[in-house]
Amino acid sequence: MAATLPILLTIFFFRSTAAMAETGSYIVHMDLSAMPSPFSDHHSWFSATLSSVSGRKPEIIYSYTDSIHGFSALLTISELESLKRQTGYVSFTRDFPVQLHTTLSPQFIGLNPNSGIWPVSNYGDGVVIGFVDTGIWPGSASFHDEGISSVPSKWKGTCEFNSPFVCNKKLIGARVFNKGLLANIPSLRAKAKRHYSSPYDTIGHGTHVSAIAAGNHVKNASYFAYAEGTASGIAPRAHIAVYKAAWEEGIYSSDVVAAIDQAIQDGIDVISLSLGISFDGVSLEDDPIAVAAFAAFQKGVFVVASSGNDGPFYWSLINGAPWITTVASGTVGRRFEGILTLGNGVRVRFPSLYPGNFSSTQVPLKFTESCDIPKGNESSKNKIVVCNDYADVRSKLEQAQSTGAVAAVVITDKFLSEQETIRIPFPVAFVSSKHRETIKDYAKNDMNATAKLEFKKTMTGAKPAPEVERYSSRGPFPSCPNVLKPDIFAPGTLILSAWPSDKQVAGTRTRPLFSGFNLLTGTSMAAPHVSGVAALIKQVYPRWSPSAIKSAIMTTAETMDNTLGRIKDIGDKHRPANPLAIGAGHVNPNKALNPGLIYDSTPQDFINFLCHVAKNPMKLVKAITRSNLSNICRNPSPDLNYPAIIAYFTAYQDNSGSNQTATKVFRRTLTNVGEAKRNYSVRVRGLEGLNVVVEPKKLVFNEKYERLSYTVRLESPRMLLQENVIHGFVSWVDDEEGKYEVSCPVLATSLVQDS
Ligand SMILES: *[C@@H]1O[C@H](CO)[C@@H](O)[C@H](O)[C@H]1NC(C)=O
Ligand SMILES: *[C@@H]1O[C@H](CO)[C@@H](O)[C@H](O)[C@H]1NC(C)=O
Ligand SMILES: *[C@@H]1O[C@H](CO)[C@@H](O)[C@H](O)[C@H]1NC(C)=O
Ligand SMILES: *[C@@H]1O[C@H](CO)[C@@H](O)[C@H](O)[C@H]1NC(C)=O
Ligand SMILES: *[C@@H]1O[C@H](CO)[C@@H](O)[C@H](O)[C@H]1NC(C)=O
Ligand SMILES: *[C@@H]1O[C@H](CO)[C@@H](O)[C@H](O)[C@H]1NC(C)=O
Ligand SMILES: *[C@@H]1O[C@H](CO)[C@@H](O)[C@H](O)[C@H]1NC(C)=O
Repeated sequence: MAATLPILLTIFFFRSTAAMAETGSYIVHMDLSAMPSPFSDHHSWFSATLSSVSGRKPEIIYSYTDSIHGFSALLTISELESLKRQTGYVSFTRDFPVQLHTTLSPQFIGLNPNSGIWPVSNYGDGVVIGFVDTGIWPGSASFHDEGISSVPSKWKGTCEFNSPFVCNKKLIGARVFNKGLLANIPSLRAKAKRHYSSPYDTIGHGTHVSAIAAGNHVKNASYFAYAEGTASGIAPRAHIAVYKAAWEEGIYSSDVVAAIDQAIQDGIDVISLSLGISFDGVSLEDDPIAVAAFAAFQKGVFVVASSGNDGPFYWSLINGAPWITTVASGTVGRRFEGILTLGNGVRVRFPSLYPGNFSSTQVPLKFTESCDIPKGNESSKNKIVVCNDYADVRSKLEQAQSTGAVAAVVITDKFLSEQETIRIPFPVAFVSSKHRETIKDYAKNDMNATAKLEFKKTMTGAKPAPEVERYSSRGPFPSCPNVLKPDIFAPGTLILSAWPSDKQVAGTRTRPLFSGFNLLTGTSMAAPHVSGVAALIKQVYPRWSPSAIKSAIMTTAETMDNTLGRIKDIGDKHRPANPLAIGAGHVNPNKALNPGLIYDSTPQDFINFLCHVAKNPMKLVKAITRSNLSNICRNPSPDLNYPAIIAYFTAYQDNSGSNQTATKVFRRTLTNVGEAKRNYSVRVRGLEGLNVVVEPKKLVFNEKYERLSYTVRLESPRMLLQENVIHGFVSWVDDEEGKYEVSCPVLATSLVQDS
């Protein structure tokens, strides 16, 4: 095996130098109508044409007939020149490397410049998204204002940077909320007053999330060559306003609420919250973010928030008030990798985000059972050490480095976090134990064993994707379990977005590293995707209520992954995900543009619902409406017109083991926002084991904005077992073209809140 290696290397060497010296890859356009009759097909014509201009035998990379007419090939300049004189030649272009849309997620959720919601909404032009977060680093290219329209006349916000020129047409507002912080930590008052009065992002989080939702286009963005391509926010022409209420020293609800309050006054359209308060069993009126969000909602502001990173356990969700759109987090089918190539040619891929420039040459390989290399022991100097699974990864690898090892291969099956593996500031390959024998045999038996490591490989299109992440918090929402949460899920894992260039993102053994982009993971990254989508919808339908926008996003969500199977749950052994993990499904902005029917509701409808379900309705309703009307609960209602249904079958468990049937009835109303005359038929999917009756089975709409109601009866013929979750959809499909499918997730459960 070892003997073949130099030959392989030589071939590779010659090809690459030849290509660099004089040839390039080109796409050649040809006139198909000029094809001489002797040729039976385009490919043979293209081949013959190419042979006639070249002494060697150039190879066609692709023959095209549909997307373009012509072919691609590696050609020298002189070959290209003589090609121009051939029959049928039209033109050529350099085969430019295709730039991935780096944050990838706009592309992954279907956004594209040629059709759908991006061009229709003019990329969110004119809409203002407010972020309550850690501030913003205005120097980022993502916040340049090229192509952005002027500040809307309704805008009342201001910029609290030291210089008035920091804001522009993209970044139209930046304010500071520090009073809660300074009140809670008085010692900070004396210290660096300036620091606490500037909206500059000293953490990086706010910069990252605001660029996910509304960052402008930035060419050639990457994280140390990973995820290279053009970066773009979901609503790249929307305006950004930031409200700095999150500080290194702590985040206080008082500051967050003041920020939301100000944002409402300033005139934002969408508010994006990638933060939340984690506390158990608190009632809604004691959740200041929920209360402040209701005020925004009443003013027509669309409120989006992350569901929290405390999954995969039920009841771990936060920010689940019914008027908030609560977002869970998933994958985008992209992997960041390195490749280990043994001297015998065996290749193993491994996950990595190592940011350094590692020289990918073969170096000696040394196998040790443990990476515990004693200080002063030089046996691994200038070698790649291979070792087995061990605890305390970081410190052992630091030790390996200090003994002169250039890199390490760690064989392990342990579940290791992103921080423990791909963020390690040392070139290391974590490989699965299925490769143990192959690597060990080679390293131990070949005296001259070598290996090389290559980094900075980005693979897209991995399947299945999306999948909901383990860390993403799961519903129900303890403070309001009668509304199914989360609402939706969106990309949140290793999302590339803007980062303060003056803030360290990574490091190698020798130095800290900086970058204008960072890859971060969490529901914090998922929420701004939905904020961006809401801005796009708002641009197209400025008069739609927040409930209507939420309905459009939820009823059109995707429930299939890129293998056309049901979306899976990483936190549940990759089994199909239930709505307590993914809500209605994965956000699909192009479909949300034309939902056909919507579940609309007013702030008063939410109050009527709370009056019915809350433990202490008057206290709650007074808190959220900030008013003291004694008759505010005069119309309590068990039904909120929400685009999701959750039914608890728990009460009748008390009936001493008898298997009586329990029935729950839900009433919903749909508003026709599609064509005036449309008939819809009901379709029930999933919900096995339940008896589901929908009445009526057909909805006949005769005019636009007409409202028609239906009821869903769920009968559980047997006692649902503890922890049992049965789920599915009640969907309305239009009879004419099947153009619309308006889906409502339905979940029946015997889950009980432990407290
Ligand atoms: C893009 O950035 C990389 C470094 O990350 C650099 O090597 C390359 O030349 C840049 N390309 C363009 C077109 O600016
Ligand atoms: C890697 O190489 C690039 C281009 O030569 C350089 O700009 C960058 O600073 C290097 N990175 C490290 C970590 O040395
Ligand atoms: C150095 O460590 C290796 C194990 O990594 C061990 O086999 C060897 O005996 C040590 N050499 C000395 C001089 O201690
Ligand atoms: C290892 O390399 C040395 C020197 O390069 C050579 O003399 C020896 O034959 C090689 N051993 C094997 C087993 O290939
Ligand atoms: C609210 O109204 C009731 C009577 O309607 C009154 O007794 C009470 O003091 C009021 N509370 C506040 C805070 O105004
Ligand atoms: C209730 O139903 C379950 C399963 O359907 C059965 O095993 C059980 O014996 C039944 N209990 C009674 C009291 O009928
Ligand atoms: C809708 O249904 C009604 C009543 O069933 C029927 O008269 C009408 O023709 C249908 N309209 C369309 C567009 O299918």
